[in-house]
Amino acid sequence: MAKQKTTVGTINNEVLAFTAGRDVELDLAMVTVDCIGTAAHVTMLSEMPVEPKLITPAERQQVIEGLVDIIKLAQQGQFKIELADQDVHLAVERTLTARLGDLGKKIHTCRSRNDQVAVDLRLYAKEQLLSTLEEAAALVDALVEFGRKHEAVPMVGRTHMQPGMPSSVGLWATAHAESLLDDCYSLLNAFDLNDQCPLGSAASYGVPLPIDRQLTSDLLGFSRPTHNVLYANNGRGKMESIVLGAMSQVMLTLSRLAQDFMLFTMPEFDYFKLPVEFCTGSSIMPQKQNPDVCELVRAKASRVKAAELGVYDLIKGSPTGYNRDLQEAKELFMEGIATTRSCLRILAPMVEAVQVNEQKLIAGFSPDVFATDRALELVGEGMPFRDAYHYVKENLQELEQIDPVQAIQLKTHLGAPLGLDWDYFHARSDAVLESVQDERDRFNTAVAALLGVDFLRM
Ligand code: ARG
Repeated sequence: MAKQKTTVGTINNEVLAFTAGRDVELDLAMVTVDCIGTAAHVTMLSEMPVEPKLITPAERQQVIEGLVDIIKLAQQGQFKIELADQDVHLAVERTLTARLGDLGKKIHTCRSRNDQVAVDLRLYAKEQLLSTLEEAAALVDALVEFGRKHEAVPMVGRTHMQPGMPSSVGLWATAHAESLLDDCYSLLNAFDLNDQCPLGSAASYGVPLPIDRQLTSDLLGFSRPTHNVLYANNGRGKMESIVLGAMSQVMLTLSRLAQDFMLFTMPEFDYFKLPVEFCTGSSIMPQKQNPDVCELVRAKASRVKAAELGVYDLIKGSPTGYNRDLQEAKELFMEGIATTRSCLRILAPMVEAVQVNEQKLIAGFSPDVFATDRALELVGEGMPFRDAYHYVKENLQELEQIDPVQAIQLKTHLGAPLGLDWDYFHARSDAVLESVQDERDRFNTAVAALLGVDFLRM
């Protein structure tokens, strides 16, 4: 079998293709973060208190300039990862060595591709989590806006899918908004766990030179380094599964929202109407307007969960230390995030354009929907609740058709249909966006100082 000379020895072509797998394409998404990681590592090496210096300040500057050029190339879609590189890490080293000669061969001192890919994935995850949070906040705002607009529009509240009690469109919409706000909390929690720098952990067991991992972490704008160098590598895969876990919570919320839309837009309900531009037709039935977007969101929730479980399954039996199995988590990770984000982005404008059919919503009320309210009315007149319950149960025919608009006006306590605190939702979604901005600023400031350029923005 034919062989190829690579940066790390001669490798059989078939083996090279098999082992590199999809990294040659997938790693293109990590060229910039890989270069940023290398810039921090080389800066740290140049400050290491050893004589003679491993890398002089002037050499550091040359490396940084080379890295900035690679970033620019990548941004124009011009940077290539060859099969012989295997991945982005060796592609960057090859490119720098071609430009800088022996200096390029020094950059890998005291690090391994294992901590490189770990830091790349964390930087990648940072940016993705922040964008996901912004997109989630936009959907929260759309749902809250929708809820507020239809705050006083009555809607039958259901349990077991059967009519239960008088409720409102505002309550329904903001239930999904609050769920998504809790998901933002999970995303922020994932962000915090992800915000630890593994670079310098090398092959997992420490290096016999005085590297400064705190400095590397600071240079990259991480909140802290991971501590134990072995955990820094064992954390790969675990971090992805934590992030995907948060994504899959988002998808759980979106899937249920989508399911509700499918149900309540059925002609038998006709409570809501999806905007026609978010529906597609049939190739045979001319009249059809199908809720394909909602169906696909529901299906994609399964795929994101499958990605999370896929990563979990890859690592659950993984022995301590780096194992090449981890490479297989990359595709699941990237796909799971991209899928979640695409769902958030399609639903926000759809929610904004959903139409509410107040007449149909009100027509959904039959007298029995007021049974519980009637029992509680009797309680107000002094009857013990269980007696009131039985009285109403035995005299259901006495129930009157009440105006549901008035019925919900009485529900004013915390979180009830007419007790929704709009400031509560806005404050939570604003806090999410503020955290995102703070994190972006922290990263952008660090990277601008590290590379001496300001065109890069997370
Ligand atoms: N592409 C590899 C991955 O994603 C990079 C690390 C390779 N490390 C190694 N020891 N072979 O895992």
